Amino acid sequence: MSMHDRGNTRLLLASAALALVLAAPSHAMQEQAEKAPEAVAPDAGTPAGPTEVSFGFGQPAPDDLIAQWAIAIPPDGEHLPDGSGSVEQGREVFNTACAACHGEDLQGVAGTGGVALIGGRGTLGTDAPKKTVESYWPYATTLFDYVRRAMPFTDPGSLTDEEVYAVSAYILNRGEIIPADATMDADTLPRVEMPNRDGFYPDPRPDVQDYR
Ligand code: HEC
Repeated sequence: MSMHDRGNTRLLLASAALALVLAAPSHAMQEQAEKAPEAVAPDAGTPAGPTEVSFGFGQPAPDDLIAQWAIAIPPDGEHLPDGSGSVEQGREVFNTACAACHGEDLQGVAGTGGVALIGGRGTLGTDAPKKTVESYWPYATTLFDYVRRAMPFTDPGSLTDEEVYAVSAYILNRGEIIPADATMDADTLPRVEMPNRDGFYPDPRPDVQDYR
């Protein structure tokens, strides 16, 4: 199991635990709702039905606080910020902030956990698939999203949007996906065609449908 997989497993377990916590009060409320009609005497003057439950802590999240956390970039690049970055600018960002773990050759540095970011094209269907940004990731916009929220590993959130655009451009160029004179911004990044773009298909299993 790779470090990446372990990270995903932890995330899944955390989500499962959160789902249980969230399910508990709503289950209780449902029970209360079902019992309510017989619990209330006809002349009590209290309307039957679920009462509002308050846990007595917390406060409504203001929009600016939500905006700080709601930074997800979907595949089509909606909400990508202003700014731009070139491959050349990205080389400097990469060598300063990323190469220690991912290597100047972008193949990962043993012992740091930094994985290979390029290479592996054509290996996904073999016995030794090498999954990288170049070979595996279907959308270039995910690279921006991931780097902005999670990298550098020891100091996430420390890069400006320009630096994230630039380092994304550099990785895509080193993966031979965009030319050396390319500049990435909210308009160009979503139009990058990743090599494995058509390698994914929707999973129709009913047990994973979105219940919201
Ligand atoms: C201190 C070491 C370290 C530094 C510095 C670092 N990374 Fe990482 N990077 C990691 C580790 C560890 C992972 C795997 C994290 C995981 O799977 O949860 C990772 C994963 C990634 C991935 C996902 C790769 C994949 O296929 O899953 C990308 C992309 C990435 N880093 C880009 C960058 C960029 C860009 C920088 C510089 C701005 C950077 N990293 C700096 C350690 C580092």
